[in-house]
Amino acid sequence: MNTIRHKTKLAAAITLALATFSAQAAEVEVLHWWTSGGEAKSVAELKKLMQAKGDTWKDFAVSGGGGENAMTVLKSRVVAGDPPTAAQIKGPSIQEWGAEGVLADLSSTAKAGNWDTLLPPVVSKVMKYKGNYVAVPVNVHRVNWMWVNPAVFNKAGAKVPTTWAEFPDAADKLQKAGFIAVAHGGQPWQDFTIFESVVLGVGGPEFYQKAMVDLDQTALKSATMTKAFDTFRTVRKYVDKDFSGRDWNLATQMVIQGKAGMQFMGDWAKGEFTAAGKKPGKDYLCVDVPGTQGDFTFNIDSFVMFKQSSSDAKKGQEDLANAIMSPSFQETFNLNKGSIPARLDVKMDKFDDCAKKSNADFVASSKTGSLVPSIAHQMAVPAATTGAIQDVVTQFFNSNMSSKQAVEKLASAAKTQ
Ligand code: GAL
Repeated sequence: MNTIRHKTKLAAAITLALATFSAQAAEVEVLHWWTSGGEAKSVAELKKLMQAKGDTWKDFAVSGGGGENAMTVLKSRVVAGDPPTAAQIKGPSIQEWGAEGVLADLSSTAKAGNWDTLLPPVVSKVMKYKGNYVAVPVNVHRVNWMWVNPAVFNKAGAKVPTTWAEFPDAADKLQKAGFIAVAHGGQPWQDFTIFESVVLGVGGPEFYQKAMVDLDQTALKSATMTKAFDTFRTVRKYVDKDFSGRDWNLATQMVIQGKAGMQFMGDWAKGEFTAAGKKPGKDYLCVDVPGTQGDFTFNIDSFVMFKQSSSDAKKGQEDLANAIMSPSFQETFNLNKGSIPARLDVKMDKFDDCAKKSNADFVASSKTGSLVPSIAHQMAVPAATTGAIQDVVTQFFNSNMSSKQAVEKLASAAKTQ
């Protein structure tokens, strides 16, 4: 009798335990814009980890490089009172969302996980709102890269340019040999990505900081900025006629396939080379944008969590935050994504030479003041100002606007709040 009762009790306990377990299997809906080959492979790692924790991944992918479309969709979901569990948000926008009072406080997870010791200050600063963690970093991307097809350069007898003064000669040679010199996708954020690298190369990091981060009117209206627009105009001469609206990863494919010589793009482009089985140093080269040797424009991808009331949802958020910060995720994700881990303690042995160079330059530039936030990738100034400046850059690229006019417009756009 006693044994039977004991067995019944045991069965009841097991049933209860199972019910509790399944109640804790949270569904996490995650908004992101990682839809290219390399990006999709990277985000699949996060999905795998969450599934291994017993959570259900609800993919909320909004295509469109740079994330503008994703941000529009996100705003409408939040306004409708139906935010996703987590969303890819970065830079000063984290502060803007924090001020809306809709973000979950991740302080206790961060404390338990020692995030303050694991993350470099340049990263942790971006992740906090009023001193508390509200975002989790997945990586550090470097934007000032030039992706080169060495076989194309060889065939054209062109030398990879290290300064903007050398650039036209190389680009002319590529064109004469029948190649597209610069693979580019004409979308505003891609124009802006080239522009910020040109500003850095022409003016140097101190000038970049003054103009693109501090929005100093004197720097914005300076002769150096006029020269940056002149150089940007030169780059425009070397894109093919079908560039308008092209996605960035299709432009990368042009370099991969040997149709074009180079592309100016952040190291998510490396994710495409990797996904295509290409090897750095052999099939392609990662080179500093002319004039930016050792400088580093950083772009940190991160996720915020939206406040939730149910304990299941909160558990899902905690799982997601812990998964993102785990060393194995930071390694695998970044091997696919082209970036470097946000955590300082992840070993770089498995990474290629481009990532190793990025890592070394990241550390070195943080000591010399040549580590600057990418404005094109929303790391430098609030979203409205970024948008206004981007509009000027794109208008210039797609019209005959003079550099002098552009400088005036840029300076007034910088006053947008
Ligand atoms: C950037 C983002 C990268 C990459 C790129 C193209 O803004 O930080 O992770 O996804 O857009 O989509």
